[in-house]
Amino acid sequence: MRLDKFICKSTELTRSEAKKLLKSGEVRVNGEVAKNSAMQVHENNSIAIDGKILTARRSRYYMLHKIVDSICSNVDEVYPSVLNFLDVDKAFDLHIAGRLDADTTGLVLITDDGRWSHNVISPKKDCQKTYRVWLKNGIAADKTVELIEQFKQGIQLQGESSLTRPAVLKIVTASNINNNVFNKANSEVLLTITEGKYHQVKRMFAAVGNKVVALHREQIGELLLGDLLAGQWRQLTDDEVAMFS
Ligand code: URA
Repeated sequence: MRLDKFICKSTELTRSEAKKLLKSGEVRVNGEVAKNSAMQVHENNSIAIDGKILTARRSRYYMLHKIVDSICSNVDEVYPSVLNFLDVDKAFDLHIAGRLDADTTGLVLITDDGRWSHNVISPKKDCQKTYRVWLKNGIAADKTVELIEQFKQGIQLQGESSLTRPAVLKIVTASNINNNVFNKANSEVLLTITEGKYHQVKRMFAAVGNKVVALHREQIGELLLGDLLAGQWRQLTDDEVAMFS
C-alpha cells in the first residue's frame, strides 16, 4: 500500500498529517528517509517515525443494515453516507464492499481491506448476493418456469454487450409473505446474482417488463443480515471475515 496510507493505518494521523510528516523527513523506510507519500510499502518493510517502528493495525470489517435514503459512497449532496452510521474511529477511511442504491435496504459490508472487498465484489469470485425483491406486477403462474429459466440463462440488459451471469430466481409463495405492503400474488421474489452492475436487479426486471418497487439485500455469500435492525451495524467475527478471505 501507499506509504501515507500505511502511516494512517498504524497511527491516529490523517492522510494530510501523514503527508506533512513525510515532507518533514521524519519518516524512514528500512532506515532511509522517505518523503514520497505514494511510495509503495508492504508488511516486511520497517517503517519508523522518529525512530519508532510502526506496526499496521489490523484491518477492520463490519456489516451494516442500510436504511433507505442513505448512500454507499463517502459524500453526497442529498443523503448521508452509510459510513455516518458507524460509530468507529476514522470511519471515512473505510469503504463499502458492494454498493446499494439510495432506496435499497439491507446488508452492506464495510472494510479498509481492498483485497477482501475485491473477493466480495469481483464477478470472477462468484460471491452470491441475495436480494428480496418486491415487484409492481405479480408473475403469472404460467410464466414462472419460463422466467426462472430466463434468469438462469442470463438477461440482456439495456446498453450491455453481454448477458448477465446466471441468476437464481425464486418466487416467494403467498404463505411466506408477512403482510408486506406490496402483498400481491407472486410479486415477492428472491434473486441471487454474482455480479453488481449498475442498478442490476432493477434493470433485470425492467428487461422482462416488470418494475422493482422495493429491494432489500439479505445475504452475501454465506453471511446473512439476520436480526440486525435497520440502521444498526456490528463488527464481523473472524469466521465471518474468513468467508471472503
Ligand atoms: N441492484 C439494484 O438495482 N440496486 C441495488 O441497490 C442493488 C442491486
